[in-house]
Amino acid sequence: MRLYSLLASAKINLYLEIIGDRPDGYHELVMVMQSVDLSDRVTVRSLGVKEIRVCCDHPQVPADETNLAYRAAALMSAQFPKVFAKQGGVEITIEKQIPVGAGLAGGSTNAAAVLVGLDMLWNLGLTQLELQELGAKLGSDVPFCVVGGTAIATGRGEELDFLYGLDNLYVLLAKYRSLSVSTPWAYQTYRQQFGESYISDSAGLDERRRRVHSGSMVAAIAHQVGVEIGQGLHNDLEKVVLSEYPKVAQLKETMKALGGLGSMMSGSGPTVFSLASSRLQAEQMKTQIRQQLSDPDLELWVAQFIPTGIRLDS
Ligand code: C5P
Repeated sequence: MRLYSLLASAKINLYLEIIGDRPDGYHELVMVMQSVDLSDRVTVRSLGVKEIRVCCDHPQVPADETNLAYRAAALMSAQFPKVFAKQGGVEITIEKQIPVGAGLAGGSTNAAAVLVGLDMLWNLGLTQLELQELGAKLGSDVPFCVVGGTAIATGRGEELDFLYGLDNLYVLLAKYRSLSVSTPWAYQTYRQQFGESYISDSAGLDERRRRVHSGSMVAAIAHQVGVEIGQGLHNDLEKVVLSEYPKVAQLKETMKALGGLGSMMSGSGPTVFSLASSRLQAEQMKTQIRQQLSDPDLELWVAQFIPTGIRLDS
């Protein structure tokens, strides 16, 4: 086949703790990541010419090498130059549903889809681990996006320990269309404000990772108890983003007051989510929030937890 269409899921962070600095300038993290079925459709198609082309229906998504999906194709062509020469170039079409600059890994999941799509298009037969390793060269969230589901992510976010996948929970996602947060800014500001509390010895870092592995969030996921998952939500980046963006802080408070299982900002924001035990509950919260905050700039989505990352669009 000369064309593959893939669905690429967004992720939310159920837990995000910043525990230290890294020599490569990144942060040591302990996160719990979860795929949700708000997805982009990414189609990869062989071109007759030796070129990488990106087409996207979203005005904020660039079509050049600043797009992570483009960089994923460039990485694959550099890793497999003979196949690239033989097969010709590739056209990547991205149909966007996931909001841009939202803390939902939209760019990372598009890149993950290109890796998986080119593996199929070029008959490379790469293992999931090889795809994750290639993904880590592109961004910290890309390896998770390849596989998806529910996972503990440590290191930069690329070291994954997959948990029993959750699919019995729903989420209401809310984002102001005109607002986006720079991820490097969020991490740098966190370092400036809280860097003194970072752990620097490897035994201490190990101890913190183990604390999450054996902690209440992972136990709640293992037992599939939505209420406890809601109670265990945590995101260190809220400390810097909510004070800088009062609209996001207010959105979180409004969402929290609606009930649900718990509310939190995802990643570096500005998307805020509320967990729900049923689609009906999530839809009811969506209606309520529309009534309470009638701002046309506010976008809302209901999504379900899913146990997969990149999948073929049947
Ligand atoms: O890996 P990715 O390109 O998605 O990261 C975006 C930015 O987020 C990095 O440039 C860095 O500033 C910050 N970051 C970090 N530590 C991590 C992951 C991301 O400081 N573990």
